[in-house]
Amino acid sequence: MRILSGIQPSGELHLGNFFGALRQHVALQEKGEGIFFIADYHSMTSLRDADERRRLVHDVALDYLACGLDPARAILYRQSDVPEVTELSWILSSLTPMGLLERGHAYKDKVANGLPVDHGLFAYPVLMAADILLYNPDLVPVGQDQKQHVEMTRDIAGRFNHAYGEEVFKLPAPHILEDVAIVPGTDGRKMSKSYGNTIRMFWPRKQLKKAVMGIVTDSTPIEDPKDTKAVVFQLWTLFASADDRKEMFARAEAGGLGYGDVKKDLLARVLDHFGAMRERREALAAKPDEVEDVLREGATRARELGAPVLAAARAASGLGPAR
Ligand code: TRP
Repeated sequence: MRILSGIQPSGELHLGNFFGALRQHVALQEKGEGIFFIADYHSMTSLRDADERRRLVHDVALDYLACGLDPARAILYRQSDVPEVTELSWILSSLTPMGLLERGHAYKDKVANGLPVDHGLFAYPVLMAADILLYNPDLVPVGQDQKQHVEMTRDIAGRFNHAYGEEVFKLPAPHILEDVAIVPGTDGRKMSKSYGNTIRMFWPRKQLKKAVMGIVTDSTPIEDPKDTKAVVFQLWTLFASADDRKEMFARAEAGGLGYGDVKKDLLARVLDHFGAMRERREALAAKPDEVEDVLREGATRARELGAPVLAAARAASGLGPAR
């Protein structure tokens, strides 16, 4: 089974990314041939700082490797190291109706908010279709927010196969990550870089502490029962066993438990949960060349897997000399 997914290097990865994608990607490498990439082409639609892009790509690679992605098992590459993606993207774009892209959430939201949109953002789903179709994967694990993109990919793949009368592309199934925990940010909205409410697992201790202590709480006095649906409990629950949870919630409902105590416990749990990963990350960060080697080797393997599919698409659509 071939499994493919990508992640955008548009900011430092945080608990939302970890529980929403990274963790599942690492688990899936056991289930088949995993192909994971850092979508730096996609990040160009929102990030215009070249040094920052390079730094973020490297950081995301470190995060994946620290969190257990095993390059001996799965492929990890930088999207722009595989130029076949952009070639396929053009081939697919000529079959993609404007109307399909006009329905894209990301594009529509920006237009609705009166923000300027560039062609890259408009064509974002085509590039994503190319990312996926280049390898004919069986499974594309994504969060709910990417479901529309995978559906568009199916649509585009079907159009190609139909137009050129050959089943070059498999229609990919989105594998919506169901058990994905909703990770609220420190202000209670969805954890997102754009809200500035993130908690990054690999921040230095002091910064991590500051973020955890800054989680919004209400002003219920210590003695009173606490709302176990509060943001701090939602975050705490990510790191707790069912038994821990029962015990903690009973204490919350009994009163006498301060939110500050929950935050301290949460901080300890975050440090503990990511302790070994943090150490691995630090060791890897001291060897940037090794990380580059992993990405380069990953791109080489990815290109080998993608080449026959691209060749079939070129042949079917009449590009290049006759077969
Ligand atoms: N658009 C995805 C995101 O922002 C990242 C991505 C790019 C991706 N290409 C992909 C995910 C292909 C899955 C498959 O999360």
